[in-house]
Amino acid sequence: MKYYNGKTILITGASAGLGKAFAIELAEVAEKLILVARRMPQLEEVAALCRAVNNKIVIELATADLNQESDRKQLIDRYARKSTILINNAGFDHFGDIFKYDFAIYEKMIELNVLALTQLTHAFGLEMIKRKSGGILNISSVGMISISPKSVIYHATKSYVSHFTEGAHHALKPHGVNCTAFCPGATATDFYKVSGTSVAVNKLMPAKQAAQLGLAALARNDKLVFPGLLNNLMYLGSRLVPRSWIPFFFKLVFSQYLVDKREWDRA
Ligand SMILES: NC(=O)c1ccc[n+]([C@@H]2O[C@H](COP(=O)([O-])OP(=O)(O)OC[C@H]3O[C@@H](n4cnc5c(N)ncnc54)[C@H](OP(=O)(O)O)[C@@H]3O)[C@@H](O)[C@H]2O)c1
Repeated sequence: MKYYNGKTILITGASAGLGKAFAIELAEVAEKLILVARRMPQLEEVAALCRAVNNKIVIELATADLNQESDRKQLIDRYARKSTILINNAGFDHFGDIFKYDFAIYEKMIELNVLALTQLTHAFGLEMIKRKSGGILNISSVGMISISPKSVIYHATKSYVSHFTEGAHHALKPHGVNCTAFCPGATATDFYKVSGTSVAVNKLMPAKQAAQLGLAALARNDKLVFPGLLNNLMYLGSRLVPRSWIPFFFKLVFSQYLVDKREWDRA
């Protein structure tokens, strides 16, 4: 955690889940946290938890809807120059057959998971290059390796996030800027509630553990990191088996988390 000492860190999607866990972990060492999400009451709760860890921490709360171009631009104008670390964490999935649902959902998903993350990486990265220091942690997913009929667009967005971030890693490294794609597997957050599935929370990785592993990966300047043995095995396995087997394996692994396995076929 020494890497984060005295840093000004902006976290998107900081009102819940992994973003909240990143904030609480960083509260111990950072100088300032800028917490971004749409819901102010939840951001205030996270700020209180951070202050309970370290009452000297400076916290700024910023409500922004990253699906709005004007909000993204405002965030960039206000914070790109000031932030030494950016954690691009906000994202969501909508579980189910894409051909049963309105495209508007997927338009928002692509805008948030892909466009907003790319735009912030570009704008904050430019400022970091000028300063010859900084770090960007982009939250991808183990779903980046997956091909599944039930999360078609989400998995495609996360493949993009990993691919883009690996490229950005190589572009930023000569300038002294770290850049890491972090690919969690099933983690205990509101993610599944938002995506419309019910999962057995006791089978998921705790958000605190995932956040610690993600922060350590950026501090080491790893390119692409999967937390835990299962996610690493899945990544390795996906490179060894024929691609046509991947949807079958994904269904097998993901179904074990579902409270009601019939949900897979219904969605
Ligand atoms: N949990 C998992 O199993 C898992 C696995 C792999 C990858 N991930 C990735 O981890 C990241 C964090 O997800 P999570 O698991 O922590 O889910 P979560 O608990 O649902 O949190 C998502 C966060 O994103 C924010 N957000 C959503 N839409 C937004 C928007 N339009 N503008 C600004 N903020 C927005 C939410 O805040 P507001 O609603 O207040 O805006 C919330 O703080 C995502 O990129 C997700 O794809 C999660």
